[in-house]
Amino acid sequence: MDPKPPSPPHVLIFPCPAQGHVNSMLKLTELLLRAGLHITFLISAKDHDRLYRFTTVHSRLSSYPGFRFHVIHGLYEGPIDTDEKLNLMLIDSLPKVTTPLLRMLLLDSQVTCFIADGILGFSLDAAAGTGVPVMFFRTISACAFWAYFCIPDLINSGDLPFQGTNLDERIVNVKGMEGFLRRRDLPSFCRSGLSNTTFQEVTSITRRTPDAHALILNTFEDLEGPILSHIQKHCPNIYTIGPLHAHLKAQSISKSTSSNSLLQEDRTCIGWLDQHAPKSVLYVSFGSIATLTRDQLIEFWHGIVNSEKPFLWVIREDLVSSLDDENNVPSELEKGTKERGYLVGWAPQEDVLTHSAVGAFLTHNGWNSTLESIVEGVPMVSWPFFADQQPNSRFVEAVWKLGLDMKDTCDRRIVEKIVKEVMEVRKEEFEESARRMAKLAKESVSSGGSSYRNLDRLIEDIKMMTP
Ligand code: UDX
Repeated sequence: MDPKPPSPPHVLIFPCPAQGHVNSMLKLTELLLRAGLHITFLISAKDHDRLYRFTTVHSRLSSYPGFRFHVIHGLYEGPIDTDEKLNLMLIDSLPKVTTPLLRMLLLDSQVTCFIADGILGFSLDAAAGTGVPVMFFRTISACAFWAYFCIPDLINSGDLPFQGTNLDERIVNVKGMEGFLRRRDLPSFCRSGLSNTTFQEVTSITRRTPDAHALILNTFEDLEGPILSHIQKHCPNIYTIGPLHAHLKAQSISKSTSSNSLLQEDRTCIGWLDQHAPKSVLYVSFGSIATLTRDQLIEFWHGIVNSEKPFLWVIREDLVSSLDDENNVPSELEKGTKERGYLVGWAPQEDVLTHSAVGAFLTHNGWNSTLESIVEGVPMVSWPFFADQQPNSRFVEAVWKLGLDMKDTCDRRIVEKIVKEVMEVRKEEFEESARRMAKLAKESVSSGGSSYRNLDRLIEDIKMMTP
């Protein structure tokens, strides 16, 4: 009788329970499954239920042998739109509930390798002494990661904490960003003072990255090469394998998107887009976490309507943080929206950005949204909300030249002006650079491209590990 063939490597994958994190780590999961690896994916009960109801993820992934979700009960499952709630998640809920579970899984499940969300630094403690290598996957850009990483240097140089309101002052102590980084472009929590717990937590977690066996980033070398070379001095074993969604598309026979959405998508907007001329529509979405005050909503709304562009706007159920009794929409907005707008609670965003009618994306520059826009060659109007989005939007404007950044303003005249600037006045210029970057993004995941090779290397390196 032939000896039993060796089992494929078994990888434990653990994302922070939030849309942007679950989404990109599921994409990594699918790529590893396609290479024949076995995966256990840790997920909160609520997210598991939402994936089951709103996506084809369950049926898609269960067709691979060796895939399973492992549901974690008892996590904080509310929104994480404020520092306090992020702390509740990162410090109170997650480590307490999952550290014992992780140790048990790592010791009992023949795990070859543990890919943990890099924001969950305690994963290193849970794995200590088990002999299982931990790789950190960060869902943010290399430029945002590097800005987080340099925070202790900024404290040493006296750049942090900063007083007063001069947010335009240059920061010259983040290597690779000397020429263009301002205080306002640092991660948002840098504004809150050194005693802020989110600031301390995120800084110390990021500084632990070199303790992990490797760092995996959802980016590509042509986009962030110079910054990656700075990170590499501290974390020599980096795999840049993004854009992950483009990888999946490149490997699919159908070219269809593989949605991992935790909210129900309203696909009627695709029919609405079909009725519009190429590159005429402004797509507006602030991702899954950001919230607006009612005043900000109204300023955006006026600016968008006054720009006179057709617009598709994602207004999540919980987008507006402070709804009061003045819920009435001013009549001029109602009229402009009826004539040119289409509002949805949640869109099939990857398909929207692929649609030929979309001419620009007013975005909060969450990293998934930014990459999705880059891959489809859609110029951006940036309005970062928090954390990594501040450096991302600076790179969009000052480095990649893919759009304009209007951070820290929310004024109807500015919104109108910037939308017109991107979609009319400097349209050709932004379309040209967006086209160029989209080509590089697609090449990176094509056979022989940098992310294609790095993904192969990651898979081969995992296969060489022994449980
Ligand atoms: C946040 C961060 O800012 C981000 O950088 C980090 O990597 C994860 O946490 P989020 O605010 O949700 O994430 O933004 P983003 O990273 O852009 O992710 C949103 C995802 O939701 C995208 O993949 C986008 O396609 C999807 N989406 C958004 C939809 O499917 N439909 C929508 O209507 C809006």
